[in-house]
Amino acid sequence: MNADFWSGKRVFLTGHTGFKGSWLSLWLQSLGSEVTGYALTPPTFPSLYAVADVAQGMTSIIANILDLPKLQETMQAARPDIVIHMAAQALVRQSYAQPVETYATNVMGTVHVLESVRNTPSVKAVLVVTTDKCYENKEEMYRAYHEHEPLGGHDPYSSSKACAELVTAAYRKSFLEQQGIAVATARAGNVIGGGDWAAGRLVPDILKAFEQNAFVQIRNPNATRPWQHVLEPLCGYLLLAEHLFAKGPAYAEAWNFGPNEEDARPVKWLVDQLALTWGNGAAWLQDPDQHPHEANYLKLDISKAKARLGWTPSWSLQTAIQNITQWHRAWLGQEDMKKLCLYQILQYSIAMQTKVT
Ligand SMILES: NC(=O)c1ccc[n+]([C@@H]2O[C@H](COP(=O)([O-])OP(=O)(O)OC[C@H]3O[C@@H](n4cnc5c(N)ncnc54)[C@H](O)[C@@H]3O)[C@@H](O)[C@H]2O)c1
Repeated sequence: MNADFWSGKRVFLTGHTGFKGSWLSLWLQSLGSEVTGYALTPPTFPSLYAVADVAQGMTSIIANILDLPKLQETMQAARPDIVIHMAAQALVRQSYAQPVETYATNVMGTVHVLESVRNTPSVKAVLVVTTDKCYENKEEMYRAYHEHEPLGGHDPYSSSKACAELVTAAYRKSFLEQQGIAVATARAGNVIGGGDWAAGRLVPDILKAFEQNAFVQIRNPNATRPWQHVLEPLCGYLLLAEHLFAKGPAYAEAWNFGPNEEDARPVKWLVDQLALTWGNGAAWLQDPDQHPHEANYLKLDISKAKARLGWTPSWSLQTAIQNITQWHRAWLGQEDMKKLCLYQILQYSIAMQTKVT
């Protein structure tokens, strides 16, 4: 990461109270950026935002992206160089329960962010975070999705993120390109890391069961997902934002950030490895209940980010699992979690700089 670039940069980050937003806020703070966050209150209790004291070291605004006047006024007052849009209803299962709210937040929320950007002269680069689930999933085992493949989405969450991609493309072509603002989208896979307590996500469910010495019930043990530590896509976002800011339109397009081929693993492999690392005889059972549809096979082709941004994954899935276990045990032991997050970010940065590609 180019610390010289980020030092003093004014960054407007939506979704800073969430899991990924909290990690990114801490990373930007450690690089010396002036961060303004805009989000609702943390979506979970406990939350990484609270336990790692993320608010200290940035300007934190608790407000709704559906409130366009407030969003625009806040962005204009912050005078950002770079906008990173992460705020979203981010859960597939919740999108089945609340489709209207999911589309409102993920589609109109994105429209509001881009509309605010359009009316904020300081902005030079924008990154809209969507997901690997925005592709039309063919459920083919060996297929890895390239950036140019068709968008789709079986469930409301996935489809709302495909819509956010289309909204971003339209704003780019209709307005932002002419204004000299470079806007890209980032599609990352399932992220894992310390400090995630989202309901129904695999790693939080596993750790909660392990803490209580209970068996964890697994919905889809054979489903394959592109697992990656949360710092991997965040590193990709930062690199991409640097390129957007410095080089502009050539980078204003869609980008995949996923793990290496060998780390797209079945759910049961991940659970087994976490159980081994955790110890204490931790184990799992298959959940016998019926659940709404979730994709079975999902892999991303990351050759573009490797070739053009020089980005590659820096931690193996094993290293990611060790860091999650370390983080969770430290939290149970009431350690200083901000310090540990910053330590893990430093370890990641060292791995990134020293890896052989
Ligand atoms: N976690 C993953 O595995 C994953 C994978 C791919 C993409 N993503 C994307 O990354 C982004 C962050 O995901 P996350 O896991 O940190 O989610 P999260 O649920 O932990 O955080 C969501 C954030 O959005 C904010 N938010 C939600 N609705 C809002 C609204 N109406 N107005 C203002 N703020 C609002 C919340 O307050 C929170 O800060 C999302 O866009 C998500 O779709 C996540």
